[in-house]
Amino acid sequence: AIVPVVLCGGSGTRMWPMSRTQYPKQFLNLTGDASLLQKTLQRLEFLSQPGILVCNQDHRFLVAEQMRTQGYSAKRILLEPCGKNTAPAIALAALNAMAQGDDPLLFVVAADHVIQDQAAFVSSAMQAAAMATKGVLVTFGIKPTCAETGYGYIEPGASLDEHSYVIERFIEKPDQQTADELFNSENYLWNSGMFMFRASAFLHELELYQPEIYNCCLEVSKAQKNQEDFVYLDEALFSECPSLPVDIAVMESTCRAAVVPVDCGWTDLGSWNSLWEISEKDGNHNAILGDAMALESHNNLIKANNRLVSLVGVEDLVVVETSDAVLVAHKDHMQSVKLVTEQLKSQQ
Ligand code: GDD
Ligand code: MG
Repeated sequence: AIVPVVLCGGSGTRMWPMSRTQYPKQFLNLTGDASLLQKTLQRLEFLSQPGILVCNQDHRFLVAEQMRTQGYSAKRILLEPCGKNTAPAIALAALNAMAQGDDPLLFVVAADHVIQDQAAFVSSAMQAAAMATKGVLVTFGIKPTCAETGYGYIEPGASLDEHSYVIERFIEKPDQQTADELFNSENYLWNSGMFMFRASAFLHELELYQPEIYNCCLEVSKAQKNQEDFVYLDEALFSECPSLPVDIAVMESTCRAAVVPVDCGWTDLGSWNSLWEISEKDGNHNAILGDAMALESHNNLIKANNRLVSLVGVEDLVVVETSDAVLVAHKDHMQSVKLVTEQLKSQQ
């Protein structure tokens, strides 16, 4: 069996002002008919298997409600008292899966991805599963389109089977100079942020490279309290856990990793730029979402939620209007939008 694990505890600060602490982007309907989380759950329906969600405890009713309105029930929702990044989140999911008595394959996915080609997504998951049953930690590699610094980079080596390759090197979020080199070498793939592995295989590697995270999560997992769909985790124990992304905690170090290259119309909705990229544009490359217009203007994203927004004679801007806050930013500075939320926090 393949058990889906959905990570939805991120804060999404680069998508301010729509993404807020109490309502991060994975719960927003940014692309049309459903929230990013709901789209993620729909994408996993082919596994017809109740999965595990890991989120912040403050969002438990939001998660439960978004699942209920889509007709999903009986999922395990693990509630983190605080964010410790993805390595502990996955460890807790793996320990919970093991506690059910078997050692399933886990298909770990983010809740902030857009995937346009469902058939390609499903077949790559199956290809990854074939390799993961052998105890390998499988990643999904995307052909890079630019020297992005916000992603992990994977160098594929010898082929393992028809669809997968050994990972020679894994480099998480390189600096700009390194990203330029990796991109120009044409030898690297982006890490998509999805993983397939046996619960035990992941835990084994975690224990090897990050024994502190492993031991901490083991203690937390032993002390967990189940209440209906919710699994409450002890705050005092979990707050001791080191905070690390899985990419650095395990993927950069492990020798048991493989990559399956995929071409499934994948986008990480990490910043407003990625929403611009996947949106329909007018003749001047403006993405106009909501009640808005762009006159004598080029390459802008406008997201109007409550009021009419008009741009005249401007280029390369992102303008996002909400009922209580407006963002006007240059497209070259999208990674810095999170500075706004940091400044707001420091003023509280
Ligand atoms: N439960 C939980 N707890 N989930 C979390 C936490 C946490 O503390 N932190 C992040 N997440 C969730 C996010 O909500 C998202 O769905 C997913 O985990 C990935 O986290 P991001 O913070 O979005 O990671 P990233 O985009 O910077 O980097 C990862 O994804 C890239 C591709 O999108 C890495 O895996 C990169 O290597 C990869 O290229
Ligand atoms: Mg992301």
